[in-house]
Amino acid sequence: MDGLWRCGSLDRLTLSLDVVIRPCGPQDLEGLEWSGAFRDQRDLFQAIHQRQHLGEVDMLVAAVGDVPVGQAWADYRPAAAGKLPMVWGLRVQPAFRRKGIAARLLGALEGLAMGRGHTGLSLEVEETNLTARRLYARLGYLTVPKHWDRVAPTIRSSGGRRILLEKRLAGAAQLSAGMAAHG
Ligand SMILES: CC(C)(COP(=O)(O)OP(=O)(O)OC[C@H]1O[C@@H](n2cnc3c(N)ncnc32)[C@H](O)[C@@H]1OP(=O)(O)O)[C@@H](O)C(=O)NCCC(=O)NCCS
Repeated sequence: MDGLWRCGSLDRLTLSLDVVIRPCGPQDLEGLEWSGAFRDQRDLFQAIHQRQHLGEVDMLVAAVGDVPVGQAWADYRPAAAGKLPMVWGLRVQPAFRRKGIAARLLGALEGLAMGRGHTGLSLEVEETNLTARRLYARLGYLTVPKHWDRVAPTIRSSGGRRILLEKRLAGAAQLSAGMAAHG
């Protein structure tokens, strides 16, 4: 037994991952709880999923096989009040981070928002979340003055100060003009 502890790795294999970004289906909801770590957000996940059916939200998962390893959603309700749609719930399982999954989730949401004719997206991030802030900055999200209090009470938060970021979506205006021209 002593010998086994000393020998370190017994085997090693390198895997390539097929990660699919797609709308969240009912079969994904349990997986979003990450084996209980986000059990307290079950009702939230179900509510957002239902709102997706109403067209108010795009709720995406990044799936490896049938396991969701990342998630994010865009809420279009603020647009009814003349605000930019808001991204919520961006999260990637720790073992799958730093592989570009969050960037692709955001890219997919940006494409969907543009397809709906929106000219930008907004999101909130805790001031101390430097990992997320670096990612958002690299993707073109800029800090803007907070013009209203939009913290979703359902999102888990350490209670720290949150800052508002916005990204203008290039091509959104042309896309909506093109859609209008084609009826
Ligand atoms: C923030 C979070 C969503 C980022 O997810 P992620 O999938 O790791 O993000 P990405 O892989 O797209 O980008 C992260 C970094 O990895 C780098 N990266 C991407 N692919 C890479 C690769 N193949 N090899 C090495 N680095 C890579 C990116 O360049 C980026 O670097 P940067 O920080 O210098 O910009 C994730 O850390 C998370 O879930 N955190 C907890 C929840 C959270 O804070 N959510 C945000 C709330 S506002």
